Amino acid sequence: MRRTYEDQVEALLGRMTTAEKFGQLQQLTWTGDTGPGGGQTALTEAAARAGLLGSVLNIHGAEHTNALQRMAVEESRLGIPLLFGLDVIHGFWTTFPIPLAQAASFDPAVAESDAEVSARETRTNGVHWTFSPMMDVTHEPRWGRIAESSGEDPYLNAVLAVARVRGYQGPADGSGLASKDRVAACAKHFVAYGGAEGGRDYNTVDVSEQRLRNLYLPPFKAALDAGVATVMAAFNTVSGVPAHANAHTMNRILKEEWGFDGFVVSDYTGVEELIAHGFAEDGPDAARLALNAGLDMEMVSTRLADHGEELLAAGRVEMSRLDDAVARILRLKFALGLFDRPYADESAAVTGPTDEAREAARTAGARSMVLLRNEDAVLPLSPAASRIAVVGPLADSADLHGTWAGPGGTRFPSVTVLDAVREAAAGTVVAPAGPGVAEAVAAVESAEVAVVVVGEEPALSGEAAVRSAIGLPDGQEELIAAVAATGRPFAVVLLNGRPLTIGGWLESAPGVLEAWHPGIEAGHAVADVLFGTVAPGGKLPVSFPRDVGQIPVYYNRESTGRPYRPAVPDEKYVSKYLDLEDGPLFPFGFGLGYTTFATDGPRLDREEVTVAELERGAAVEVSVDVENTGARTGDEVVQLYVHDVAASIAQPVRRLRGFARVTLEPGARTTVTFRLGAEDLGFWTNDPAGTFTVEPGRIDVYAGTSSAASAYRTLTVR
Ligand code: GLC
Repeated sequence: MRRTYEDQVEALLGRMTTAEKFGQLQQLTWTGDTGPGGGQTALTEAAARAGLLGSVLNIHGAEHTNALQRMAVEESRLGIPLLFGLDVIHGFWTTFPIPLAQAASFDPAVAESDAEVSARETRTNGVHWTFSPMMDVTHEPRWGRIAESSGEDPYLNAVLAVARVRGYQGPADGSGLASKDRVAACAKHFVAYGGAEGGRDYNTVDVSEQRLRNLYLPPFKAALDAGVATVMAAFNTVSGVPAHANAHTMNRILKEEWGFDGFVVSDYTGVEELIAHGFAEDGPDAARLALNAGLDMEMVSTRLADHGEELLAAGRVEMSRLDDAVARILRLKFALGLFDRPYADESAAVTGPTDEAREAARTAGARSMVLLRNEDAVLPLSPAASRIAVVGPLADSADLHGTWAGPGGTRFPSVTVLDAVREAAAGTVVAPAGPGVAEAVAAVESAEVAVVVVGEEPALSGEAAVRSAIGLPDGQEELIAAVAATGRPFAVVLLNGRPLTIGGWLESAPGVLEAWHPGIEAGHAVADVLFGTVAPGGKLPVSFPRDVGQIPVYYNRESTGRPYRPAVPDEKYVSKYLDLEDGPLFPFGFGLGYTTFATDGPRLDREEVTVAELERGAAVEVSVDVENTGARTGDEVVQLYVHDVAASIAQPVRRLRGFARVTLEPGARTTVTFRLGAEDLGFWTNDPAGTFTVEPGRIDVYAGTSSAASAYRTLTVR
């Protein structure tokens, strides 16, 4: 962020008392919050009037924020404005598909569109700051927060995080932050939250330095380079040291190595939780450890405000650290224009989803869907179908926003699949006469074709929503079996917030469309794809396990010394299960369409490159031809992977380093070009001081339409 406010920051800092400085580090939650801390209205108003408060979360509505802002600006001694924050993760009024769905679009424009619409709706309703994007790479489908992530790959997470930061904030230098349609973003959760053991939320993460730097940190570095204004600390430990007091990750990597000049906010009561972690003795200890490790603002718990002055007096925290934290917060308030215009214009508030915003959400929803199976071309549904049955427990659900829906999630219902199919179909659409399987079967038997809408209620994913088994919820597999027994052609629409184990019924369903939780325009987006108005072109951002016992299963894995060899399936002493086929049911990057494509193997513009050339910025150009070999216009995502076959740190068998989604008419052909530079061909070592290396040797460059791509060319690095 531009450091153009230093004089004003320094001048204000020089006038602040120590109590007022610790006040700036305090964020409290507003009434109506259902989190662990509950509402803190009285505390918030008193602290605002006393000039002992920096920020408030879980508040929105210009009339509310202005009322509280006036207490701070007009009643406190220095009139420092408050910073208002809210979890706008995939929409404020207009709920877009969950982030995992948006990742499946393999289209950063989808994420940027969400962020731009969200920023406008958020800022005009008095909120300056969103606690988004979440960019936690994860290999854990049991973990409920996979729904908020962009999946198992660091490169895809990074591309989407950058798109969101740009959509929320505007230019990387922060020059757009004062605009009434921009908000400050927050890269979260720093760091490695997605690596929780057993997928259990808030659980232990023990990770090597190389995996920390090669898997979990890249999205954060990309977000930083895109100018993200804030970072949120993660609830978990990172190799025994809680992220909220981890000087290695916050001070050393984030602030010193990367030069981050924004601020780090704790997660909800995360500072106080250092005690429960068994890391801090008590409140003062928690405050000291967090502040000294690089944490700048405390969310909801009040250990810094309660104990800061005594810690300062005892020399257990330095005034320079306190001033640094306050300066980081004031810098953002100046960048947001809060000192010049502390109040939101109540007449300018966006009061609900506009038609344009809905259209953007509908487009995002359709582009995020992944066609997993389509036997006998059961999809797209023929508009001429005289009778279509729509059955299943989620067929007429109006709550398809998914986890972490913004205020719109409770204000504006989703479009149901049933309503949307009725709107789109030329013929009759029948729904069951009752909730039972028998009624569903009767409806299916009365129709030519059926749509079975199943999946997870939104409450089954998101924070603290961890499932030990990840199959369809009770009764849904039985429904699918009963529909299959009718012999009618049918397609299953999955509405879910995580990968599911669907192998038990997959073969019985001619069509399977992974639609995730598509948001406010859910039904329309599903119908657009079911009827072929939009061709499905999404790809899986996460592997789908065959069984929960197979977890973790992910594409960017190491080979092992005894890899399973498909050519020798009975080989005993290799890395495999006795009772399960090898590999995921569906791999990362997989997705079908309503047409077919052919991709040629990658072509390199050079077979050799030296380390020195790469370190000077040289790149290898890779070209991939792709052709629509089918009869319908469609989208394909051409993906580029690298595999360093021998390195001083065993490398993943595939690393995604480029992708491009193209739309082609039947018979059309195009060439997609990628560039591979040092950052694509090298890796971080286990050096805690941070060593990135490009090593001589053979690197295989793969290109194709999923992580199972087999066509490759070899690049020799000298
Ligand atoms: C929650 C989440 C975090 C969110 C914060 C404020 O516990 O971990 O992602 O931004 O609290 O709601």
